[in-house]
Amino acid sequence: MALRQQIMNMAHFRAKTWSSKSLSSKPAKSSFAKSMKPLKEFKRSRIPKISVVGAGQVGTAITCMLLLRNLTKNLVLLDINYELAKAEALDFQQASAFLNDARVVPCGDSANSKNSDVVIITAGARPSGKDRSRLAAMQKTVEILKKAVPKLVELSPNATFIVISNPADVMTYAVQRIGKLPKHRCFTTGCHLDTVRFRNLIADRLRLPPSQVHGYVIGEHGASAVPVWSSVSIAGIRLNDVVKSLACGDDPENWAEINGQVTTGGLAVAKTKGYTNWAVALTCTDIVQAMCGGKGKIASVGTDMQGMNGIKDNVVLSLPCLVTAGGISHVFELPLTDVEQRKLLASANVLLEAQCSLDL
Ligand SMILES: NC(=O)c1ccc[n+]([C@@H]2O[C@H](COP(=O)([O-])OP(=O)(O)OC[C@H]3O[C@@H](n4cnc5c(N)ncnc54)[C@H](O)[C@@H]3O)[C@@H](O)[C@H]2O)c1
Repeated sequence: MALRQQIMNMAHFRAKTWSSKSLSSKPAKSSFAKSMKPLKEFKRSRIPKISVVGAGQVGTAITCMLLLRNLTKNLVLLDINYELAKAEALDFQQASAFLNDARVVPCGDSANSKNSDVVIITAGARPSGKDRSRLAAMQKTVEILKKAVPKLVELSPNATFIVISNPADVMTYAVQRIGKLPKHRCFTTGCHLDTVRFRNLIADRLRLPPSQVHGYVIGEHGASAVPVWSSVSIAGIRLNDVVKSLACGDDPENWAEINGQVTTGGLAVAKTKGYTNWAVALTCTDIVQAMCGGKGKIASVGTDMQGMNGIKDNVVLSLPCLVTAGGISHVFELPLTDVEQRKLLASANVLLEAQCSLDL
């Protein structure tokens, strides 16, 4: 039996929209269920209407990927700069014949976003300055969200909100609070991006395809992110079991160097381009695909993780989650080493401090 099928049969799986043939909704018969915390049940099966808020570099890259993957036939591109939204939407619409006849509608005041199934928020200030600190761009973006989110929620009260705007974890907390949205239906792609960067860096060293390296980055999508070396495996072989002092202690192969490369991955691109867009667009599209296709996906995305992995406060950060039709259905509690657990709690503290500083 395929590993995925085995895991699903063991777990107490509650998302009822999934095909009953492939997934069990019976209570778990395995202690594995203790690692898998259910968040919410929900139903959604039709091809969604998607609104992308912000027609800048990230919003248009996401639009492009969603359309190329045929994930929606009805996409609204919304920007406070309506002329920009109109021009970008028209640029896509003119090639609709190559995009499965999708409709791309511009929007300047939220009205056209009515009854969206998914709302993707990219509006916000880009990090700037030498260190490109995501936290520094925070207050400006909160002001944008305070204006935009209430209307978006009013028009699409059942939508799933995906927050991309940085600092993504803190902004997700802000959107949850401003929009009074439940945590399973408002989350950030968070460390799913850091995770693909992590896997790519490891794969590069081992000369393997990145898709065949498994492992997670958790915590903040930012400087305090935690690459979980104890979760890294290739072909079922845990890297930790075969590499001496992996990314810790004397670390003779200097794997720890990758920790820094993961957290500065965006900077490495943005120092020349001034922004990043393709990797985050692919990351977001991967998550939307998991929501549309009915298959679901386990990814390190961020929501309020109170009660998970020893986190006591209402703090938004990333842990591996099962993302399905309507958002996050389960959170997985990773077995962490003492060092990783300490780093996760430190990351939670950084984020909690930032959340507390918000003027909401
Ligand atoms: N989470 C991630 O992994 C990740 C990765 C890359 C970038 N980002 C973040 O995404 C955000 C967008 O980046 P970008 O490069 O596209 O910036 P950008 O400046 O190119 O685009 C932002 C757009 O938002 C629009 N906007 C501002 N206020 C708005 C409002 N109230 N309603 C609608 N639109 C509004 C602006 O007019 C602009 O077109 C930034 O916060 C950036 O840091 C996140």
